[in-house]
This record gives sequence, structure tokens and C-alpha cells, in this order.
Amino acid sequence: MDMSLPYTPSRVGSKIDPLRIAVFISGGGSGLSALLKFQTKIPRSHQTVLVISEDPNAGGQIYCEQNDVTFVGIRLPNIPDKSLRRLTHEEKIEVKLAEFNVELIVLSGYMRILSPSFVKKWKGRLVNIHPSLLPEYPGAHAHRDALADSATVSGCTVHLVDEGVDEGLILASEAVEVLPNDTISDLQNRIKIIEHKLYPQIIDDLCSGKIQL
Ligand code: GRF
Repeated sequence: MDMSLPYTPSRVGSKIDPLRIAVFISGGGSGLSALLKFQTKIPRSHQTVLVISEDPNAGGQIYCEQNDVTFVGIRLPNIPDKSLRRLTHEEKIEVKLAEFNVELIVLSGYMRILSPSFVKKWKGRLVNIHPSLLPEYPGAHAHRDALADSATVSGCTVHLVDEGVDEGLILASEAVEVLPNDTISDLQNRIKIIEHKLYPQIIDDLCSGKIQL
């Protein structure tokens, strides 16, 4: 694994030639919905051309139907060896990304860890949002971990994806107060409100060249 590889950014998009985005989701897709709203409000330098999920029944596909965006569910292949299963799954994903000429991948509630080879190929063109102030509380249970830690502040972080879990160059973050009697879902819902504004804006800044890598 070559950790010293620099990020290779996408080209700068424009309203007449928007950057072609694929969004990866696993579930409800509220973040996808926020991005699609942002992109349809006024012409942007980016456009979602494809949504991919490992779950063909992912709830978020409703937003694809509503916005005339292609949704593709790619199930994990039935291969016992975990690493071969991941690589074979990602090969199928790559075929779709090539078919749709995707230039930037936006992870939005995608619950799978991507292999180092996939990340390496897309480094600089692969962004994620994580529901904590990284490097605090990485992993799949950020809200649970923040509450267990009696944190008084959490938030969300937009970052480029590296080979590590929830690691990579931080592009933006925003704090959210943790209230005394917060449940996991209280905190999650309040952080999502912030995520839905921050993520589309940072994607916009990245695609329009305002953020330079
Ligand atoms: C968001 O909180 C995001 O930070 C995390 O997963 C959640 C996705 O929610 N990675 P949704 O599927 O977009 O509603």
C-alpha cells in the first residue's frame, strides 16, 4: 500500500459541463435526497448521474425515481472468501462507474469498507461524510460512542477517503452540541440536519474548484 500517493483531484466542473457524480448509499438516503435537491434548485458544476447500493432494496432509491437518476443495486456476490467477495463486488461497481463516465464518488451512508486498491484508484475523487468530529469516534457507531464517552460536542466531518477507516484529508467539519438527555436517534437527527447543508456545499466547492487539493 503506497500511503505517500498524492490525491488526484477531479477536473473542475462547470454548469455547461457538470462533473459526473456517483453516490453510494446503503439505506434511507436522506443525504442523497439533500444533494439531489441542491443540484436541482439551480444549475451546478456537478450532477448525480448514478446511485449505487449493495442493497437492491435500499430505501434511498425512491429519491432516484423522483429525480430521474439511475439506481443500481449490486448485491455482494456469493463468494465465501471475504477479500475475493469484496474485490469481485468492486469490479462490478467499476463496470457501472465506467459505463456512466463517473468522475467523482460521493459516499453518503455507504456502510461498506472499500478495498485499498479501489481507494487508491479513486483517491482525490472519493469523498465521505462521517457523523462525528473526526478523528473522534470513527467507525459505524459514532453516535453511540459519543454518548458513551459523555461527549458534550459532536458533529460531522467531510473528508477525502484514504485507505484507513474514516481517515483522509478533512475538507470541512461542523460541531453539534450533545444535549444532556440525547438518545442516539436525537443526536443522529440533529447532526443530519447539519450534514444535509454541509455536504452538498462542500461537494459544490470541490467540483467548482473553490476547494483545491
Ligand atoms: C449519515 O449520518 C452519514 O453521516 C453516515 O450515514 C448516515 C446516512 O444517512 N455515514 P442517510 O442514509 O443518508 O439517511
